[in-house]
Amino acid sequence: MSKKIFSGVQPTGNLHLGNYIGAIKNFVELQNQKNNECVFCVVDLHAITVKQNPKILKNNIRETTAAFLASGIDPKKSIIFNQSLVSAHSEGAWILGCVARMGWLNRMTQFKEKAGKDKEKASVGLYIYPVLMAADILLYDATHVPVGEDQKQHLELSRDIAQKFNLDYEAPNFLKVPEPLIQKKFSRIMSLKDGTKKMSKSDPSDLSRINMTDTKDQIVNKIKKAKTDPDLLPTTDKDFQKRPELENLLGIYSSMKSQSLLESINEFSGKNFSDLKEKLTEIIVENITPISNEINKLQKDSKFIDDVLYEGAQKAEEIATKKVKEIKKIIGF
Ligand code: TYM
Repeated sequence: MSKKIFSGVQPTGNLHLGNYIGAIKNFVELQNQKNNECVFCVVDLHAITVKQNPKILKNNIRETTAAFLASGIDPKKSIIFNQSLVSAHSEGAWILGCVARMGWLNRMTQFKEKAGKDKEKASVGLYIYPVLMAADILLYDATHVPVGEDQKQHLELSRDIAQKFNLDYEAPNFLKVPEPLIQKKFSRIMSLKDGTKKMSKSDPSDLSRINMTDTKDQIVNKIKKAKTDPDLLPTTDKDFQKRPELENLLGIYSSMKSQSLLESINEFSGKNFSDLKEKLTEIIVENITPISNEINKLQKDSKFIDDVLYEGAQKAEEIATKKVKEIKKIIGF
């Protein structure tokens, strides 16, 4: 069955292995399956929910686009664009913001985490961020949305918004209720320094993550310094709850090698962490270094990247503007 795919990545710098394994790697696989229609968006409007330096933001938009291209997303097969070029997203978000309920947004755990203790000082944009995400998805009639585990709650909100809109305006099935595509395994890559914390762009320690632009030496060093425990590698997956760092490193290895966790456990059973680290380094370098080199190469040609985004935006605009027009008609404008 053909799928309509939509997903987005924020251009906030430090794109990392979690973004790659949890999202971008899957974008490429979905793009290459027959008959899928894919839209991949650099969500710059989401990025400004926290303060950004304009020059750095521009650079990060290009870097994220370069990472898409270098990972294998092909502008001939998929639509690639940055969100701010298509104003229908903002317009759609306003309308859907009038459908979403405060109570729903109050439950969003990512807002609570990002706003921290002083939520009075968080931007209003950060609070309504999931509504913009719903607009992104619903304007393209996306049937499937590939994301990492951390975006699951936001996707559920998108589903709730679609259903309430259809009900309130007596427009059955008008907004398509999207399915999340979250892999069962490896959808939550953890920090290399703390296996209970998500690998994140905003972690102050660069040693906590492998960035998509890291050099071979940086990767070697980060895996060397990654947290482990004193025990031997296990023969079963029974003790994982007590050994989150081990589970994470084996998970990264399995994902990069496209094999199950059990196969990786069998491969290393009874061996030392140093054996796992050596093989893990090899496979990350093998997978990430070519992408990293390509990102650097592409970034030297900012006109090429801007052209890809502009051309993608033309196609995206056609779809999103049509949907907003239909929405306006339904709500009586
Ligand atoms: P963002 O930019 O934080 O992350 C981009 C993608 O990477 C995934 N991800 C991870 N997956 C596994 N392990 C991790 N440690 C990890 N960290 C990040 C995220 O789940 C995501 O899939 N709100 C979204 C962007 C967005 C979007 C959308 C996504 C905006 N509009 C519409 C889908 C559809 C975000 O901030 O992702």
